[in-house]
Amino acid sequence: MHRITLIPGDGIGPAIVEAAVQVIDATGVSIDWDRQLAGMAAVEQLGNPLPEETLASIRANRLCLKGPLTTPVGGGYRSVNVTLRQAFNLYANVRPAVSFEGTDTIFRDVNLMTVRENTEGLYAGIEHFIQVDGEKIAAESVAVVTRKGCERIIRYAFDYARKAQRKRVTLVHKANILKCTSGLFLEIGREIAKEYPDIAFDDRIVDACCMQLVMKPESFDVIVTTNLFGDILSDLAAGLIGGLGLTAGANIGTDAAIFEAVHGSAPDIADKGIANPTAMILAGAMMLEHLGELAAARRIEQAVRDVIREGKSVTPDIKPGSTCGTRDIAAAIIDKVRG
Ligand code: NAI
Ligand code: MG
Repeated sequence: MHRITLIPGDGIGPAIVEAAVQVIDATGVSIDWDRQLAGMAAVEQLGNPLPEETLASIRANRLCLKGPLTTPVGGGYRSVNVTLRQAFNLYANVRPAVSFEGTDTIFRDVNLMTVRENTEGLYAGIEHFIQVDGEKIAAESVAVVTRKGCERIIRYAFDYARKAQRKRVTLVHKANILKCTSGLFLEIGREIAKEYPDIAFDDRIVDACCMQLVMKPESFDVIVTTNLFGDILSDLAAGLIGGLGLTAGANIGTDAAIFEAVHGSAPDIADKGIANPTAMILAGAMMLEHLGELAAARRIEQAVRDVIREGKSVTPDIKPGSTCGTRDIAAAIIDKVRG
């Protein structure tokens, strides 16, 4: 029995999280879901977007499946996602982008994994204005890149590549201009690559990498990069396979791992019953894989792929004009998972 913190989240969150729970439960893997509040739902009931009970639950279970959270505008709340990242040292943001048959993107044969450093770089939060007589004359942002931070994210990428039987790790940087921060990342990447002679290693400069991702996405396997570049490249990769409704991500840390869809709470369609639960369901499959439940994870992925390829029970974001909703696609996936 695995005990897992479950955060339904806001907007479309509760509907797609419920679909994911039903699909995961249909695999027969025994899970004790520890339901907790966060986001607007928590503000409304407890006056705090990230209550201590929720943090304590993640601390105890070390695993969390999380629906999207609406970031409260105003009111001075910190971003829940940033707080979680810091609280649990979630240093690796891992996002697969694998083409689906049955979607109408022009890019085919994409099968890549972005491994983004999630705690350092330009997102370290060291920013200030320089003011003279009350006028902002400059702004400075300090990118922090530590040896320890580089080593653990690059090792994570290589270890992942080995485990997933992938062939190549591509390190993305801008070391020609950012000689220190990107330079150190690249230098450490080259050192660590020697420990993994079975995995090919190369590096790309980030701007050229963007062009190559669009022109030859099939030539990428595992990408490892610093925080800002990873933020941008992983969205680009998500776009290559058909976008938000299909892309899941994991935040892996030393103290916990949190699995989620890449998209937000989609308030524009929150009460329409048409949200695509695929990304959330695939986040559940990534979680099962992390737990070592490989067969169950594969069954879910295959079921999702089959349902999207067949195209009979998909939501309108996949097939415009479709009258199927969240429940229809979830039911079709559950049928296939049960076999
Ligand atoms: P969004 O991702 O919620 O929506 C963008 C567009 O994509 C909307 O048109 C939406 O209807 C559509 N969409 C998103 N997910 C979909 C799905 N599963 N099925 C069908 N269509 C889908 O981004 P937006 O509107 O910028 O943000 C809404 C709220 O979500 C904000 O409060 C934002 O802060 C929050 N957010 C939370 C995240 C998280 O908790 N990890 C991530 C991104 C945004
Ligand atoms: Mg982003």
